[in-house]
Amino acid sequence: MPQSMNDEVLLVRDYIYETSGMYFPDSKRYFFESRFAHRLQELKLDSYHAYLRFLCTNSEGPKEYSRLIQEITINETSFFRNAAQFRAMVDLIVPEILKMKQKQGTNRLRIWSAGCSSGEEPYTIALFLLEYLKDKIRNWQVEILGTDIDPSVIEAAKRGIYTEYRLRNVPAEIRKRFFNTNHNGFAVNDNLKRLVNFRVSNLNNKRDNIPMRNFDIIFCRNVLIYFNTVSKKRVVENFCESLVNHGFFLLGHSESLFDVTEKFKLVHFPGGMAYKKAAGQDG
Ligand SMILES: C[S@@+](CC[C@H](N)C(=O)[O-])C[C@H]1O[C@@H](n2cnc3c(N)ncnc32)[C@H](O)[C@@H]1O
Repeated sequence: MPQSMNDEVLLVRDYIYETSGMYFPDSKRYFFESRFAHRLQELKLDSYHAYLRFLCTNSEGPKEYSRLIQEITINETSFFRNAAQFRAMVDLIVPEILKMKQKQGTNRLRIWSAGCSSGEEPYTIALFLLEYLKDKIRNWQVEILGTDIDPSVIEAAKRGIYTEYRLRNVPAEIRKRFFNTNHNGFAVNDNLKRLVNFRVSNLNNKRDNIPMRNFDIIFCRNVLIYFNTVSKKRVVENFCESLVNHGFFLLGHSESLFDVTEKFKLVHFPGGMAYKKAAGQDG
């Protein structure tokens, strides 16, 4: 049992871990303590016990949970982030998948950007497909889904309007073709918007993951760095179920599945790597 306000803060830390999978070790204490204290002050509550009660039982609890998540998540992202992976997607991964699907007699290509923040990653996926695969995907039914636990970033993703800084790695010619500029910034055009859907979804929640099936490619980049081994294993197990046999899984450049699972085969490509699901790994 926590003895003091100091210890009580760990109850909130543990609640976040249980619900989202994000784990803040003691070494990050200053970070989470200051963020939680901010929420307490705003609600004029005098203890973390009261705060947890508010989260779990008040009718405003779900809204407050979203605010808390907003407070602690790092939503850093940009268009063309780690572009070598998108290059590999259009040069190697998608062509292999299209061949496999043609043999199966289907023309549906499904890609999931999990933990997509404000949408730059799924829109970049759409842009690479349209820019570099043009005719090859003309008759394909392409569906890209972006999900995130934080409702505020999903709202921003649906708006699809960005500052120049978020587009800093996008060449000028490509900007002209895929963005409309106005006084608010750079708005993704309809060709991109048409391919991408967004949804709030918690990767650590089994119920949220039930509808996530039959994806050919999953990007989950720079998300699992906030998880510990236990929650990482659970979430990666779900990803495995969400992927078709021989589907591809892409992590951020500093992340790996080492010590997490053996259900994927590592595939190297110029400038990076991906994981490929071996057949018969659903169980
Ligand atoms: C640093 S951003 C990564 C954005 C993008 N994937 C990229 O690499 O540019 C991490 C995102 O993961 C999301 N996230 C963290 N835990 C999550 C969970 N349990 N379910 C869904 N999204 C989560 C955060 O809200 C945040 O937007």
